Amino acid sequence: MKTTRLALAAVFALGAAPAIAADAEAGAKAFNQCQTCHVVVNPAGETLAGRNAKTGPNLYGVVGRQAGTVEGFKYGDDLVAAGAKGLVWDEATFVAYVQDPSKFLKEYLGDSGAKGKMTFKVKKEADAANLYAFLVSLAPATN
Ligand code: HEC
Repeated sequence: MKTTRLALAAVFALGAAPAIAADAEAGAKAFNQCQTCHVVVNPAGETLAGRNAKTGPNLYGVVGRQAGTVEGFKYGDDLVAAGAKGLVWDEATFVAYVQDPSKFLKEYLGDSGAKGKMTFKVKKEADAANLYAFLVSLAPATN
């Protein structure tokens, strides 16, 4: 897991194409799947994507951020525990998480009882990678 993350970081640092050819424009369209629950609002208060949904946390700057740390959002205990254990959103963790949040948390925490509050699952891995590229395009990774 750690090796994969480091390898991906290296790929990005070199500016080479990542293993999955991600497309921010396609990600903008795929964000339709997310906007019933999520919005992307920058610190100036401008809505960059979505409308005003608050079921999920604001996804502005999610890339490079420790999981479960948007102030004022009531996360599930397991996502907060994963963040405390070192979970930071990068391409590998994001792409895996959005395809099955609860399964991801079970594996990350090594706890078969772990559960996420996000009930939605992205069906296509390509959508997940494109969404990642889209969110990076709105707010560069902070790490
Ligand atoms: C049905 C509502 C719903 C939909 C649809 C949804 N999410 Fe979520 N999302 C949530 C909730 C609720 C959480 C908080 C999870 C928790 O606390 O366990 C969350 C958390 C997240 C997180 C972790 C954020 C953090 O601050 O750590 C990411 C990343 C994320 N969602 C991405 C997405 C993306 C991308 C989509 C669209 C493909 C999406 N979500 C669609 C409800 C949703």
